Amino acid sequence: MEAESQTREQKYAADLTSIKEAEARIRPFINKTPILSSDALDALSGKRLFFKSELFQRGGAYKFRGACNAVFSLDDDQASKGVLTHSSGNHAAAVALAAKLRGVPSYIVMPKNAPQRKVENVKQYGGQIMFCEPNLPSRESTAAKVMQETGAVLVHPFNDGRVISGQGTITLELLEQAPNIDTIIAPISGGGLISGVTLAAKAIKPAIRILAAEPIGANDAALSKAAGKLIALQEINTVADGLRGMLGSLTWPVVRDFVDDVITVEDSEIIEAMKLCYENLKVAVEPSGAIGLAVALSNGFKNHPAWKDSTNIGIVLSGGNVDLSVYGIHPKDDE
Ligand SMILES: Cc1ncc(COP(=O)(O)O)c(C=O)c1O
Repeated sequence: MEAESQTREQKYAADLTSIKEAEARIRPFINKTPILSSDALDALSGKRLFFKSELFQRGGAYKFRGACNAVFSLDDDQASKGVLTHSSGNHAAAVALAAKLRGVPSYIVMPKNAPQRKVENVKQYGGQIMFCEPNLPSRESTAAKVMQETGAVLVHPFNDGRVISGQGTITLELLEQAPNIDTIIAPISGGGLISGVTLAAKAIKPAIRILAAEPIGANDAALSKAAGKLIALQEINTVADGLRGMLGSLTWPVVRDFVDDVITVEDSEIIEAMKLCYENLKVAVEPSGAIGLAVALSNGFKNHPAWKDSTNIGIVLSGGNVDLSVYGIHPKDDE
């Protein structure tokens, strides 16, 4: 299906126009991230791989694109009361950073088991943290309370057209840097990243293939796609702390209608992909960020009908906020 003609009827949360507007709005603030490549990883996969390295984005993850677009879309009056979000990490830091650049306060609701590296990131950008229980009802009720008390505007991590449009700017850069890409593999959780990437990609290059990469222990998107309706999981279990969310009302329609398929991998494959990124690309990628490579190397992809038609594959390395202990490095607390 051709994305742009559909979105003109306001059927989806973003379209190529809103994504181009986002690109112009956030350009002064974001990093244009490089494409990395490795002959060794090309040989291992049997394909040409183009790694869109969003771990070099400000805040250490692509999330800054969407947060920045949302925060700078607000008029002065709205912005003056500050912005609020609930997030396990990367979006939280991104909102805090965007608010700091806009000169307004940010209130961040985080689960108390969020990785330390991500908590530090939010503090570093001046975000005011409120910890909650690690479940959705607790996150939402804490956020509602803060919103009532402060009048801050909610910037949802994925179910927000401004956020989705910001994430879509990745595609504008990627297809300019590597125009011959025929397939894009990107992580999926709440679906903000894949929705923006997909709506832009299918509008610019309708024949492009989009594969979503999901941990088997958080496979709501794979199950929903197979069933043709939104399916919620009762239990989630994955090392990829950024991929523990579930699709929302704005992202599911894009995944249902435009994402070609969702491919799942085991946590062990994600860890192996992190290691391969470190060894071959010389970059520290967090588990959620490395899953695209894990999928590219998986049997799930090699046995998929898309395999034989995929030659030049864009892989979104979505973030690099990884605790060094994963690499066996344990910095002392007082250093
Ligand atoms: C590094 C990283 N990659 C991917 C995702 C998934 O993004 P989305 O929820 O938009 O699907 C997240 C979400 O937090 C993330 O932090």
